[in-house]
Amino acid sequence: MNLRESGRVLAAYAKPRWRMLSLSILFFVLGSAVEPLLPALFKKLLDSGFQEGLKYPIWVVPLIIIGMFVVRGGFNFSGAYMLNSASSLVVLDLRRDLMKAVLRADAKLFTHMSPGIAVTRIINDPQFAAGAVGGALTTLLRDATTLLFLMGYLVYLNWQLTLVSMVTAPLLAFAVRTIQKRLKHVGEASYLSHQRLVNIVDDNARAWRVVRTFDAMDFESQRFEAEATVQRRMQLKHAAAAALATPTTQLVASIGVAIIVTLALWQASHGAATVGEFVSFITALLMAMSPMRHLTDVYQPITQAMIVMQGCRDLIDAPKEPDLGTREIATCRGEIEFDRVLLTYEGAPRPALDGLDLHIRPGETVALVGASGAGKTTVVSALLRFAVPEGGEIRLDGVPINDLKLANLRRHFAVVSQDIVLFDGSIAQNVAYASGEVDRAKVESCLRAANLMAHVQTLPEGIDTPIGTNGSKFSGGQRQRLAIARALYRDAAVWIFDEATSALDSESEAVVQRSIEDMRHTKTLILIAHRLSTVRNADRIYAMSDGRVVESGSHEELLESGGVYASMVRLQSAG
Ligand SMILES: Nc1ncnc2c1ncn2[C@@H]1O[C@H](COP(=O)(O)OP(=O)(O)OP(=O)(O)O)[C@@H](O)[C@H]1O
Ligand SMILES: [Mg+2]
Repeated sequence: MNLRESGRVLAAYAKPRWRMLSLSILFFVLGSAVEPLLPALFKKLLDSGFQEGLKYPIWVVPLIIIGMFVVRGGFNFSGAYMLNSASSLVVLDLRRDLMKAVLRADAKLFTHMSPGIAVTRIINDPQFAAGAVGGALTTLLRDATTLLFLMGYLVYLNWQLTLVSMVTAPLLAFAVRTIQKRLKHVGEASYLSHQRLVNIVDDNARAWRVVRTFDAMDFESQRFEAEATVQRRMQLKHAAAAALATPTTQLVASIGVAIIVTLALWQASHGAATVGEFVSFITALLMAMSPMRHLTDVYQPITQAMIVMQGCRDLIDAPKEPDLGTREIATCRGEIEFDRVLLTYEGAPRPALDGLDLHIRPGETVALVGASGAGKTTVVSALLRFAVPEGGEIRLDGVPINDLKLANLRRHFAVVSQDIVLFDGSIAQNVAYASGEVDRAKVESCLRAANLMAHVQTLPEGIDTPIGTNGSKFSGGQRQRLAIARALYRDAAVWIFDEATSALDSESEAVVQRSIEDMRHTKTLILIAHRLSTVRNADRIYAMSDGRVVESGSHEELLESGGVYASMVRLQSAG
């Protein structure tokens, strides 16, 4: 992992907030500038007050002390407020870009990033990174400037002594560097373990039914326990490395202090310094110890933040869906051509589409049939450019789809996919998904066409009923019908139903079938089904096998020719 690069990314996000950040620095610096006033006051008190008698009323002293803390507090509050305003804006910007990255990422991203990891990366990680760096920055600003001012005062008081106190600096630097290396190493291991833990939780939240059906609670508990223990161990190692920083630096610093005190005492005994000067010097020196110690504490959060930022950076830099097309089709007729299309998924041993030829005329209803894995869904993916062929050409209304803008290409399709995915929200919101104003009458007519209205009417809130996470309050067939209604709501030129009626009973299927029949000739329809009774009325049936069309024709023609389709039909009617 390259932590410096992650730092650069975070810095780039912080850059537009430089005004707020500078203001915050200014407040912190002002707050710290008040700091040396305390030992200075002591010096004045001890030197003049005790030896020569007070030259000012005694009530001034508490007033000055309290006043100093009020001023310092005010500055520090303002500094912290400004810093947090800036860092919360950085988090917002980061999250926005991360979300955009997910929305625009190439389909490949989703084969290796679980929803849980996406959630962590977008929601938790930026907050953590900005919080950690912000906190560290506060410490740095407050303590480094305090230290600077105190050192300045020390030099002013007695530069020889101050110089001597620097002898331990190289030793300190070495100790800090060693600890920092260890922090990076353990921090990375901890982060990776954290991700594995997220994935386990993610699996269990999604597949809870499977887990329980398999009576796998113990298995999952053990899996979780094992990883959580690894995570705990890493966390502890990390904390130990971080905790080592303080005593180590203190030890090194104590060497410096020992030398100084000895020297100062020696100087004082030779009359080179006053008592006030000595007390003041030691006070300032001791005050400098605490910020010095805090400074070594900033490495741990910063290192961890950089490790976390690495994940965010990977996501932001994830390859985008290529969208190089420039052309648009205003009104689509729905003519589709596949011209010797060759498509191989990454890492697959053989092509999913192996020189596929298809020609679907506008307004035609075609069916794709074939064994599981024949490449039917891949045809749809290629058409919508979720998967990109390495050979051949796909054309929509005669325009190669690669020349079309992605948004324009996809606008012409309404798809009910094989795996139904629904959104959190009401039935109406799901049917009219992302179409702005919800046309309630249209929602109802689409629900009716999908044979779901009768059920929706029985619900107390009607079309405003929430459907639960991914439609969990619905049955499988109801979910499918909801997805059909969602597709029907969309005015597209090409309608694709990929196994869209597989979970429906005969009655619902008949209703949906009729709705589809109603659209015939006004839309191009692509039906994919294993249940062949649903496709027999198609204008043309393409039988696919191993990524190729092996035969095509109408139901009657194909039965006549006695090929693959005919034997499929025979098998199904026998069963
Ligand atoms: N994202 C992917 N990565 C790698 N291989 C894939 C991917 N999606 C599908 N495949 C493979 O491509 C081939 C065609 O899959 P496809 O989903 O198109 O089949 P299908 O005809 O729709 O099957 P089914 O009737 O079971 O839905 C299969 O061998 C499958 O394993
Ligand atoms: Mg499929």
